Amino acid sequence: MRKNLLILIPGLLCDHALWQHQAAALAQISECIVTDKHMHYETIGRIAEAVVADAPDRFALAGLSMGGYIALEICRRYDKRVERLALIDTSARADTADQTEKRHKLIDLCRQGKFEDVNEMLFSVLVHPDRVTDKALKRQIVDMANRIGPEVFIRQQQAIMGRSNQVPCLRDITCPTLIVCGEQDQITPLECSKEMASLIQESQLEVIADCGHMTSMEKPEKVSAILFEWLTNR
Ligand code: MLT
Repeated sequence: MRKNLLILIPGLLCDHALWQHQAAALAQISECIVTDKHMHYETIGRIAEAVVADAPDRFALAGLSMGGYIALEICRRYDKRVERLALIDTSARADTADQTEKRHKLIDLCRQGKFEDVNEMLFSVLVHPDRVTDKALKRQIVDMANRIGPEVFIRQQQAIMGRSNQVPCLRDITCPTLIVCGEQDQITPLECSKEMASLIQESQLEVIADCGHMTSMEKPEKVSAILFEWLTNR
């Protein structure tokens, strides 16, 4: 029997390694594909179109952070095609002026050849404070960022800055939706997940204790188990 497709969408400066544990753990129940379309286009809308262009009629979708921004855009445009949705450490809100200003500063640093500094700054807020000294985790995250590189980082930041406010669209999402958030997520704080859970009809919120923004890498077993349950329940 053919397995249902699960499309996994990475976040900013992330690739297949973000989902390594989950793709392996879920392979027995789903055909898992990690898209790389989030690297190639300047707008969230164009990325959403590109992800769906390669997909079958119906599919499950999981996105972390920027991946969640893309997943929400896919739901808004192609709601009938999304069987199940997982929104992980993400938000439905558009950027604030302050967030956009910070992104411009990071882009300027990249243009000055300081991509390594950008990585250092980002890492300090990406993970739970207790994991900032975890060398193995840092290596995995910095290796991903280096594979992506500054040019793609700038393109991704442009797409992120231009994204629209999806909060008014949340009530239109009708598929079973799992929302996951690290309790100490500093990039897309828990209140953003609570907001999505309060507005999406068939949603379930899972909060991961002692965990920052990079849940799928900080607590890989826990996230894989929650996704397994979401894919096999109902
Ligand atoms: C991400 O992890 O995709 C980004 O940090 C999201 C963002 O900067 O808004």
